[in-house]
Amino acid sequence: MHVLIINGSPRVKKYSNTDKILDSFTSGMKETGAGFTQYEVSDRKQWDEIRKKFSENKNILIALPLFVECIPGLLMEFLESLEPKNDGTKLAFILQSGFAEGVQLRCGEEFLKMLSERLGCEYCGTLIKGNNFSIRLFDGEQRDNMTAPYIEMGREYAQNGDMFSDKCRRFTGPEVFPFYVRILLGALMATFGRIGFNRFAKDWGCTKRLDFRPYT
Ligand SMILES: Cc1cc2nc3c(=O)[nH]c(=O)nc-3n(C[C@H](O)[C@H](O)[C@H](O)COP(=O)(O)O)c2cc1C
Repeated sequence: MHVLIINGSPRVKKYSNTDKILDSFTSGMKETGAGFTQYEVSDRKQWDEIRKKFSENKNILIALPLFVECIPGLLMEFLESLEPKNDGTKLAFILQSGFAEGVQLRCGEEFLKMLSERLGCEYCGTLIKGNNFSIRLFDGEQRDNMTAPYIEMGREYAQNGDMFSDKCRRFTGPEVFPFYVRILLGALMATFGRIGFNRFAKDWGCTKRLDFRPYT
């Protein structure tokens, strides 16, 4: 099995969490003898080549971060430039995010199902996982520990050709946090989180408070 992998993050490869996740995921794939070629949507110079490879390859994996509960704009722009295929191509996805609850990624998952159909590809599932905000802030062993669980998912994908296995489904973790955790997180965000974000905004030159509502 040879897979065309497209990193759909607008962040350049060096700073992309998706890239670090793919490092582990593809090492699991390699253990099964599968090969891959990876491209980055963040590098517009690669777009012509990715479009060509998209039309040629029968196994394609698009890995992307959730941006504002949705698909990154740069990836959308690229996807809109693809020609639909209708040749039995298998298309799977890794959809990863900062916040940990699975539920916030389900809307994106539905979109990716529709997208596969519109691109004339067979939908082969989406591996869904949050809690990835800080991967790129770490190096070496610490980073490897954070992304290590993706190695097994890479093996699963390469062996099954899709993301539909029970292991892939369970990989998401909790759909929503228990009630007491939500209350605690809500309280932390409303106090320390608010102070922290307002401080960031001030440092970046923002002159109004973040809850400023000029239109109400
Ligand atoms: C502009 C922007 C919007 C984001 N929106 C969300 C979001 O709605 N939900 C979430 O859980 N994470 C969100 N994140 C966090 C990213 O999904 C997360 O950090 C991801 O691992 C980034 O992958 P990348 O570095 O490959 O782009 C956002 C990050 C950015 C920069």
